[in-house]
Amino acid sequence: YGTSCINREGHLSIGGVDVTTLADKYGTPLYIYDVKDIRNRAEEFKQAFENKKVNYQVAYASKAFSCIAMIELADELGLSLDVCSGGELYTALQAGFPMERVHFHGNNKTPDELEMALKEKIGCIVVDNFTELSWLMAMTESMKTEMNVLIRITPGVEAHTHEYISTGQEDSKFGFDLNSGQAKKAIKMIMGHSYLRLQGVHSHIGSQIFRAEGFEEAVKEIYLSLAQWQQELGYYPEVLNVGGGFGIRYGENDAPLPLHEYIDRMVEAAEKESAKLNMPLPEMWIEPGRALVGEAGTTLYRIGSRKDIPDLRTYLSVDGGMTDNIRPALYQAEYEAIVANKAAEEKTELVSIAGKCCESGDMLIWDLSLPPAVQGDLLAVSSTGAYGYSMANNYNRILRPAVVFVEDGEHRCVIERETFKDLVRHERSYRNSGSPEK
Ligand code: LLP
Repeated sequence: YGTSCINREGHLSIGGVDVTTLADKYGTPLYIYDVKDIRNRAEEFKQAFENKKVNYQVAYASKAFSCIAMIELADELGLSLDVCSGGELYTALQAGFPMERVHFHGNNKTPDELEMALKEKIGCIVVDNFTELSWLMAMTESMKTEMNVLIRITPGVEAHTHEYISTGQEDSKFGFDLNSGQAKKAIKMIMGHSYLRLQGVHSHIGSQIFRAEGFEEAVKEIYLSLAQWQQELGYYPEVLNVGGGFGIRYGENDAPLPLHEYIDRMVEAAEKESAKLNMPLPEMWIEPGRALVGEAGTTLYRIGSRKDIPDLRTYLSVDGGMTDNIRPALYQAEYEAIVANKAAEEKTELVSIAGKCCESGDMLIWDLSLPPAVQGDLLAVSSTGAYGYSMANNYNRILRPAVVFVEDGEHRCVIERETFKDLVRHERSYRNSGSPEK
C-alpha cells in the first residue's frame, strides 16, 4: 500500500523523500507517516463495501493515532471517526471534523464527556453499560436532546490475539453480555426512552486479528441474538458495527489478508444471516485503527552507544525506546528495522536494539540482522504508525518525538517535538508557591 523504497544513494526513501533529509531537518527520534499508504487503505476498505453494494461507514479508530492533522486526513478520506475520550473528541473538534460522523466509545465515559457529546450533537454514542445508560437517559431528558445509540455487546468470540488486546470474550470489562439477558434488558430500556434512538448493535472482538473467521463467527453470534430480539422485542437494527482489529504486518511472522477480504467475508456472513431472518441487511460499519495507520508509520532513530559482550550479544542503543514505542515491553510485540542510510548494504551482523530508558525491559528488537552499523547511523523501525505516538510517554523525562507526514516528495511537520519546557509546564515549585491552600 505504501511508497517506501531504497533510492539511488542506498537510503530509505518514504513518500519520495530521503529519510536522511528528514532526520537532518526534524531530528530524531522521528515518526514518519506515508500518507499515500493511509489513503490506499481507506480506499480499499471503502471500495470493498461499494463492490458489495451495501451501505457502510468506515470509522477511523482514532486511539491508534490521534492528532489534528490525522483527523483532518480522516475527514478528507471520507471516513467516520471513533473517539473514546473527551480528549479524542476535543481533538476532532479542533480538526473541524463533522460531528455527525463521530462515534463515542468507552467503558467509563464520565458525565462531563457525555455532556460534551450531547452538546456537540455527535453521530452516536456506543452505550457500554447500565451506569452510562442511566446517565444518558437522565441527561438527554434534562437537556431535551435526542441521541442515537448503538449497544455494545460481547459476542463471546475469543480472538486469537494477545490477552490484553482481546475484548470479545464474555469475561470482559466492555459491553453488555448476551447470555445473562443484560443486552436484552438494555435494549428494552433504550426502546422505551423518548430521547434515545437505538440505531444498532456494536461488537469488537479484539485487535491484530488475521483470520476472517473471527469476524464471521462474531457476525453469526450477533445474529443469534438478533433473531431473538426480533421475535421477543420486535427489534431489528439499522446498523451493525463489527468493530476494528484487522491485523497488519509488523514482521515476517505476520500474514494479514488483503483488507477487502475481511470485508467481503463479514458482509457475506451478514447477508446470509439477514436472509435467514428475512430482513434487509443493516448498514455495515467497521472501525479500523491499526489497519489504516499502522504500516504507514516508520520511526527513525539515531544509533548511539554499542556494547559487545563477547560470544553473547551486541547491544546497539537508540535515542528513543519504550517512551515512543511501548509495545515490545507491554505485549512482547516484534518489529523489523533497517539501517536507513545503509539500506542497500549486506546484513552481516546480529545485534539487539535497546532503548535509552533505565529499564532492562526497554528493548525494541532482539536479534536483528543489520549491516555493520556505527554511532550516528539511522535505524528505521517499520509499522510503528498505530499505538506508537498515541501511547508515547515521558518516562525518564524523555521528550515525545516530532511527527511528519510525507507524500509526493513533500514533507510537513504535524506534531512538533516536545521541549524541556513542556515537561515542567504544569508544575509549581514547592518552595516558592506561596502559602498552601486549606
Ligand atoms: N474499536 C474498538 C471498540 C476498540 O476498542 C478498538 C481498539 C478498535 C476499534 C481499533 O482496533 P484496531 O483496528 O486498531 O486493532 N494498544 C494496543 C491495541 C489496543 C486496542 C484497543 N481497542 C496495541 O498496541 O496493540
